[in-house]
Amino acid sequence: MTAPLVFAHRGSSYDLPEHTLAAYLRALDEGADGLECDVRLTRDGHLVCVHDRRLDRTSNGRGLVSARTLAELEALDFGSWHPAAAVAKGAAPLDESHTRLLTLERLLDAVRSAGRPVRMLIETKHPSRHRGDVERRLVALLRRHGLTEPGPDDPVQVTVMSFSPLAVRRIRELAPALPTVLLLEVLPRWLRLGRLPFGSRIAGPGVELVRARPQLVPALRAAGNSVYVWTVNEPEDLELVLAAGVDGVITDRPARTLARLGR
Ligand code: G3P
Ligand code: CA
Repeated sequence: MTAPLVFAHRGSSYDLPEHTLAAYLRALDEGADGLECDVRLTRDGHLVCVHDRRLDRTSNGRGLVSARTLAELEALDFGSWHPAAAVAKGAAPLDESHTRLLTLERLLDAVRSAGRPVRMLIETKHPSRHRGDVERRLVALLRRHGLTEPGPDDPVQVTVMSFSPLAVRRIRELAPALPTVLLLEVLPRWLRLGRLPFGSRIAGPGVELVRARPQLVPALRAAGNSVYVWTVNEPEDLELVLAAGVDGVITDRPARTLARLGR
């Protein structure tokens, strides 16, 4: 059994504010194989790296991300809410890489400058609300970066993820060569015999689902799928998914995960 890939969930987001450039650069320094990133649309159509629908939890702004322009979001502080900011207060202040909004374009530029292979797991949020706009803009951006038809030796390999089968179908139609992950929080009735819809070959169950359904990972893998599990932060969860033989571990703590794997 080969060791699973380690993906940094929202960057090294246990240690640094999620979805900031600093959190992603830390994950690359720590040796993560890949980076997980949620993307949403601003009011003026830019893809930004933010998990929540609202700004309230991870910034000093209020209201919906989708109601703001990129310029308005760039004026906000996306880092001071995190415990890392309190630690830094007595020492050096957080710099902009820890506190500013990150666009997907900027993250892709950083990944391409890493000088080593990096896998990107990009999750589209709320596809139904935007009627496919998120997926269209994402594929257009990836195409501009030459990332929609990856060759085996290309250093940056992008995979698109969603909880929505509809979003996965849109990506498959817009960019058939892009791998997709169907994320699973619960076990849908239609997931018979481990077959995923719309040509997805990677399943993304949550760790709670893996714990509740011990046969799920073997069934998905026996049907020819890879399995990436989220969000594996606790040591007992890591042991569970390693024993299950998963292909990818998505974690807020890539350094600790890599250490367990002897890497
Ligand atoms: O990696 C998949 C995982 O990120 C899905 O859940 O809520 O963290 O986006 P969430
Ligand atoms: Ca996510």
